[in-house]
Amino acid sequence: MSDSPVSTHDPKAPEESAEPSPQEQKKMEQAYAQMKRKMSMQEIGKKIKHKVMVLSGKGGVGKSTVSTGLALSLAQQGLSVGILDIDITGPNVPKMMGLDGRRLHVESGRIHPAQGHLGVKVISMAFLLDNEDTPVVWRGPIKLGAIQQFIGDVEWGDLDYLIIDFPPGTSDEPLTVAQSLPDIDGMVIVTTPQDVALLDSRKSITFSESLKVPVLGVVENMSGYTVSGKAAPGMEIEIAAPAGKTLKATTDEEGNFSVTLDIFKEGGGKSTAEEFGVPFLGALPFDPGFVRGGDDGVHRIVSDPEGASAIAFAGVVAALQEQIIDGESVGLEII
Ligand SMILES: Nc1ncnc2c1ncn2[C@@H]1O[C@H](COP(=O)(O)OP(=O)(O)OP(=O)(O)O)[C@@H](O)[C@H]1O
Ligand SMILES: [Mg+2]
Repeated sequence: MSDSPVSTHDPKAPEESAEPSPQEQKKMEQAYAQMKRKMSMQEIGKKIKHKVMVLSGKGGVGKSTVSTGLALSLAQQGLSVGILDIDITGPNVPKMMGLDGRRLHVESGRIHPAQGHLGVKVISMAFLLDNEDTPVVWRGPIKLGAIQQFIGDVEWGDLDYLIIDFPPGTSDEPLTVAQSLPDIDGMVIVTTPQDVALLDSRKSITFSESLKVPVLGVVENMSGYTVSGKAAPGMEIEIAAPAGKTLKATTDEEGNFSVTLDIFKEGGGKSTAEEFGVPFLGALPFDPGFVRGGDDGVHRIVSDPEGASAIAFAGVVAALQEQIIDGESVGLEII
């Protein structure tokens, strides 16, 4: 045997010679934490019956409005619902849920969600910000690590639905979530009827291939704006609509009339869904009440629970629930 300084493993050597170096110790701790988080994510996954991702290719089409609306509409049915707001750079779910300025509540190392309107549980990256005007510039790995932590360390309890709201585009975040959280039912793609938004939603549909998460359906947001008014009974009214069109309506016996203006064209969400053979979940009207609700913290579904927008959301939710039967997603998986 040579006296080589390189140590070789001797199974008969006493235990204390296998003392790990500080670096090895750190690696072991990290691996242990990672394993615990993975187990925790599996556990969490089991306690949440349905997980739905809300995505779009283009920004500003209403993902957060739709995520919060779906969550509130499900909560209106008496279901227990949570929202996970993954948008690190512009998280605005807390504002829409009346939870502006909240901070994370941590107990025994577990993160507890805040409760917004109708008891919906909310976890948002915004709860980490000191000041809502401070942009969060996190490098990729830190951001993705934070997302995993937000999935693994949150005490959601038992939920019927978890709605996950994403930033725009087809980036790393949906991939991280899809890899971390088991049994995601599928994704809802939000689009406006505009051509450019449609093109982007087509990209999102194709993106579902790489995620191996089925598309539960397409929602067309900001679909049409309904104008109502009153004049003499039986009167013909002409309204100047976008694109030089004239809309005609006749007042009823009480003098009421209403017409729907297609601000951003019409029917694009449906045709995209048909083209890709995925379900069309429905259209949501253009409703300035959503913008007001975003500003004053009272969501449209809460301020007007029986209004046209709440009814439209209930329709979309019913179509979504049809796609998710007994824990089995029947959404189309594009391979
Ligand atoms: N159906 C609607 N009618 C009127 N305004 C709407 C509607 N849907 C969304 N909005 C408004 O459009 C703006 C963008 O909506 P929202 O924040 O939900 O979009 P987003 O897709 O989540 O945006 P981002 O890509 O920045 O995350 C908000 O001011 C919201 O109030
Ligand atoms: Mg958003």
